Amino acid sequence: MIHRPRRNRKSGAVRGLVQETSVSVSDLIFPLFLTEGKNTKTEIKSMPGTYRFTVDNLLKEIDACMNLGVHSFALFPNIAEALKDKYAVESYNEKGLYLRAIREIKKEFPESCIISDVAMDPYSSDGHDGIVENGEILNDETLEVLGQMALVQAQSGSDIVAPSDMMDGRVGFIRDILDDGGFTKVSIMAYTAKYASAFYGPFRDALESAPKFGDKKTYQMDPANQREALIEAELDYSEGADFLMVKPALPYLDVIKLLKDNFDIPIAAFNVSGEYAMVKAAAANGWIDGDKAMVESLTSIKRAGAKVILTYFAKEYATYIRSK
Ligand code: PBG
Repeated sequence: MIHRPRRNRKSGAVRGLVQETSVSVSDLIFPLFLTEGKNTKTEIKSMPGTYRFTVDNLLKEIDACMNLGVHSFALFPNIAEALKDKYAVESYNEKGLYLRAIREIKKEFPESCIISDVAMDPYSSDGHDGIVENGEILNDETLEVLGQMALVQAQSGSDIVAPSDMMDGRVGFIRDILDDGGFTKVSIMAYTAKYASAFYGPFRDALESAPKFGDKKTYQMDPANQREALIEAELDYSEGADFLMVKPALPYLDVIKLLKDNFDIPIAAFNVSGEYAMVKAAAANGWIDGDKAMVESLTSIKRAGAKVILTYFAKEYATYIRSK
């Protein structure tokens, strides 16, 4: 035998030399849920180890994360049902929970990177990402709301706005509004290939944002489609996106690779709530080793081509790496 591939696996030191992929804490974005109130932190049942924080406690959590090297946070608000309406008006309330939280975080942690969510569903009485009329999700009318949301988020200090709505034309629409408002430095992380996925269930529990009727199949992509992701990516790239995101991550590694091979801007992947919940549930039953499954999941997502990973494991991974 001339080639014995096992020679390169013979010890930890040699395996370290030939290891092709490793996940750094600086690759990670930590999604955080916020809620109204004072000094509380409520665990989300379907996401053990993940909490909804009131703003005061959110600041403490961010402080702990910053000390672990996690510097980037994607914020998602749980909005009281009474404040939701058809047009998501609460989303641009300057005194509302979300914009207040962004301002407070950026004041206390100016070196953090805040990724704000641009979509109507947390504030929509219909539980959809766009304006609903006669059971239909309106595209162009929704853009006006998204543009306004992105602008107020930028004004509040957001570093990156991340449209997660899947309306057509929103990246260009938002870019124009940001530039006209003087926010040329605010980046856009586009949820480019966002699939109509069963893996968002626990997130919708966290936000209490499940659609009141129907599903999201007229705007989110069909899980069966890969080539269609290129159409979305070409549009988002040409409209000025700074990052292209694939979501969920593990069931769509082929899509991550496809975008990585075809575009030169950084690819992000969202390791979503259901992916997290599955690992946690199996680990809690003693069916898998949770730490190893976490590391393997994140490594696979990075190996497929994602530079940036949004993951509920961010803090846990940073803690784990430190203990090694
Ligand atoms: C909606 C949104 C969703 C997620 C992020 N933004 C769910 C949905 O489309 O219904 C899911 C994230 C997760 O599951 O972790 N704008």
